[in-house]
Amino acid sequence: MRTFELSRRLQKLPPYLFAQIDKQKRELRAKGIKLIDLSIGDPDIPAPDKAADILYESARVKDYQKYPLDAGLPSFKQAVKNWFRVRFGVSLDERKEIITLIGSKEGLVHLPLAFVNPGDYILIPSPGYPGYRGAGLLSGAKIHEMPLLAKNNFLPELKKIPRAIRDKAKIIYLNYPNNPTSALAPKIFLEELVKFASKYGLIIAYDNAYSEIYFDKKPSSILEIKGAKEVSLEFHSFSKTFCMTGYRLGWACGNEQLVEGLLRVKTNVDSGAFLAIQKAGEVLLNEEAVYTDYVRKVIGERRDIFIGVLRNAGFSEVHADSTFYVWAKIPDKFKSSLDYSRYLLVEKNVAATPGLGFGKYGEGYIRFALTVEKDVLSSVKLL
Ligand SMILES: Cc1ncc(COP(=O)(O)O)c(C=O)c1O
Repeated sequence: MRTFELSRRLQKLPPYLFAQIDKQKRELRAKGIKLIDLSIGDPDIPAPDKAADILYESARVKDYQKYPLDAGLPSFKQAVKNWFRVRFGVSLDERKEIITLIGSKEGLVHLPLAFVNPGDYILIPSPGYPGYRGAGLLSGAKIHEMPLLAKNNFLPELKKIPRAIRDKAKIIYLNYPNNPTSALAPKIFLEELVKFASKYGLIIAYDNAYSEIYFDKKPSSILEIKGAKEVSLEFHSFSKTFCMTGYRLGWACGNEQLVEGLLRVKTNVDSGAFLAIQKAGEVLLNEEAVYTDYVRKVIGERRDIFIGVLRNAGFSEVHADSTFYVWAKIPDKFKSSLDYSRYLLVEKNVAATPGLGFGKYGEGYIRFALTVEKDVLSSVKLL
């Protein structure tokens, strides 16, 4: 049989680390074993009923059945503009500074195709959301991993990025509230970041997918920082804010040229998000507060319970400052994060994500997603 060789680009993507764990999950389930799955960042909380109601009504509207306009439904972008002003005090021009996305991942991954040439560097956090690495490699970029370490509150040390790499870097990806560490970025760091990017001609791709999943401190937008709009594009998602992962809706906003570049890629790749889904998003953004208060309350309660479970099991380092993830140092007796996650799955029937899956600096940690009910969380056995 003829074999088709994968492109060098695709071959460069790291092997799928979780394949073995996924196989074990399937095998255990096939044996009828019920797993507690804390491995995937897909909220169990239902999306607002209104999302489905508006989608249903709007899907019947003839105009919404057509190709979406590339940059997005104007009334959706107006809703983003209003929401952004109220939430962050930032004003955006809805005609030039906002673009609708088919989920934020779509935009994050397409961005380098607009601004990166083969051989340029992109800077990614490690541990970090795996999409950034894929984005860089698919565009032919070289990857530089910035360690996010507990001793630095999971913020990168920008000064430690080698000079030669700074000069060849085009995009710096960062994400706070952070997946997987749950860390938040203080404004003072965001100011340093904007100065750094301005000095070295870098684009800041600021992934704010979890901006509404917080407990004590309200996360900021990078666009609140003076000078940020010159160099940044910020990404938002309905997947986490409204538990709408399957709808595939998000947006990017910020620098006009970055919006325009991303739009040029998108017009060659996709034809935009279904207008009826954008309509649902518009209505939700206009009525936001009640639902997101509810999500924060539910996740906050789960977090308190699960921190207790970890402490009782003797975990020494537990981070749960925002998002619906808990990032914990693995118990000493395990050699690696993969080792511990295998033990959890096979011996305790709990699925969690080994830190190594988020990059080499994630080794030694494990990520739990708080995507099951409180009583299930309190029954979790970890050792
Ligand atoms: C940090 C981060 N950014 C982006 C995404 C992608 O979200 P979306 O569903 O909007 O594509 C995720 C999804 O898990 C994420 O964790």
